[in-house]
Amino acid sequence: MIIEWFSRLFPGFLPIQGTEVARDWDLFYIFLIGVSTFFFVIVVGAMIVFAIKYRERPGHRPEYIAEHHLLEIVWTVIPTILVMVIFVWGWVVYQRMVTAPEDAMEVRVLGKQWSWQFQYDDGRVYSNQLFVPVNKAVKLVMTSEDVLHSFFVPNFRVKQDVVPGMYTTVWFEATVTGEHQVFCAEYCGAAHSGMLAMVIALEPSKWELFKKGKYEHPVAALDALGTSVGVQASLPGRKVAETKGCFACHSEDGSRKIGPSFKGVFGREESLADSSKIKVDEAYIRESLENPLAKVVAGFAPTMPPYKGQMSEQEIGDLLDYLKALK
Ligand code: CUA
Repeated sequence: MIIEWFSRLFPGFLPIQGTEVARDWDLFYIFLIGVSTFFFVIVVGAMIVFAIKYRERPGHRPEYIAEHHLLEIVWTVIPTILVMVIFVWGWVVYQRMVTAPEDAMEVRVLGKQWSWQFQYDDGRVYSNQLFVPVNKAVKLVMTSEDVLHSFFVPNFRVKQDVVPGMYTTVWFEATVTGEHQVFCAEYCGAAHSGMLAMVIALEPSKWELFKKGKYEHPVAALDALGTSVGVQASLPGRKVAETKGCFACHSEDGSRKIGPSFKGVFGREESLADSSKIKVDEAYIRESLENPLAKVVAGFAPTMPPYKGQMSEQEIGDLLDYLKALK
């Protein structure tokens, strides 16, 4: 009730509450804002009143007050109670946030420069798209391939560092179907801000389809991944590039990012790091997807992760069509 009232008063101040824990945190947060506002008004208000009332004037001498026990007790006891309330309340919600239910469904998460990879029990792997059932606890077991990343879903109010060489976990139970933006919340290199993903919470019927490998997510929704929508938006290959996270490192408009731009790439002659030359064709693009370090274009760092086994023939074909069309 308080959350609804607050959201109406300050629309857009808080992201939607996509989990129960998000509601718990928001209530706590509103309490903190309330307490802070209350004391801000009291302190600043008294300051202003006193500055006027007791200002220096001819014929006025301020009274000297040595001590006032009752006042001192009040200003010690009330803040003590308040910070204890804040501590205990925060601790309780924190425990709820970090303790996954026993029956939570597990998904493996791999963070890497600069995309997220999600792997299910049955071995299926998705880049930058995490499909989950609504109203079911999901536990992510996460690690990183390279540097520190941080898995952050504002709508769920959960955030957890993803660290190379160790496993960290985070869990959530989505209560709202649809897309929930994922950010990387730890600076991890040049394309950190492009390291985006989407949690897609599916209603039970769609989740059943997904489990059978028959769920197709609508394209339009994927534009919300945060990448620019170019002129080629209708091509299925562009959707592939978007979901695989290509745009974190490759532009569509010729501008230089981590990797060479996609614009006009097909048929272009590139100089390689070993100063040989190569004409970009289907074979080269395919090789660069599966083994990106084999022939690195001169002037670019060898940082692309391999996509071997992560793309179907259909997807690679679509991607080629898209690149060919991007003159
Ligand atoms: Cu990964 Cu920032």
